[in-house]
Amino acid sequence: INYQLVHFVASYGKASQIPPSTCPEVSFVGRSNVGKSSIMNKIFNRKGLVKVSATPGKTANVNFFEADGVHFIDLPGYGFAKRSKAERDRWAKLIGDFFNLERSFNLVVSLVDIRHDPSALDHQMIEFLQEGGYPFVVALTKADKLSRSQQGRQLATIRKQLDVAADDIIVTSSESGLGIDKLKARIEQACL
Ligand code: GTP
Ligand code: MG
Repeated sequence: INYQLVHFVASYGKASQIPPSTCPEVSFVGRSNVGKSSIMNKIFNRKGLVKVSATPGKTANVNFFEADGVHFIDLPGYGFAKRSKAERDRWAKLIGDFFNLERSFNLVVSLVDIRHDPSALDHQMIEFLQEGGYPFVVALTKADKLSRSQQGRQLATIRKQLDVAADDIIVTSSESGLGIDKLKARIEQACL
């Protein structure tokens, strides 16, 4: 995949607005502020293409990007405590509707912060992917905030808690670039 060709395609507030898949698709899910937009920018090697914010809840729509005939989809983050019930309901409907669409789900990248135990919503999201048979990989984010030994410990703990295969969990950092090549290889594999 030639990421130099990456560009923004469109933003959708409702799943019903999203046109049918025309190419392989990789989507990014995870709680608000976990680093979805940052990891996409790192994959693309383009700093400001996907909007990143220190304020959780920045991405409220489903945003489509395209690189070399592959769609990359930034999904809105879940579990932002300060969000109103109406906003949380809107999120749940948007994500639920999105995954119910008849699409080419080549790979779902499910992001979890390496520093903490997965939240109830992380568990729900990953169980949903497992039960629905969606091809997915877990990216543990912000590894640069931990030492190497802490990373190893958290990887083992989180992997056990989420019950995912060793091959399906990658330690990453959008800051240092750790694990990004591994994730890209996984994306290539899923899309070709
Ligand atoms: P929403 O759009 O609100 O759902 O958030 P998001 O998941 O897209 O997170 P985003 O990429 O906007 O990052 C949130 C914050 O975490 C920003 O301040 C980023 O700079 C920071 N961040 C993201 N990834 C990393 C990382 O690997 N290391 C460090 N140290 N900070 C990171
Ligand atoms: Mg975002």
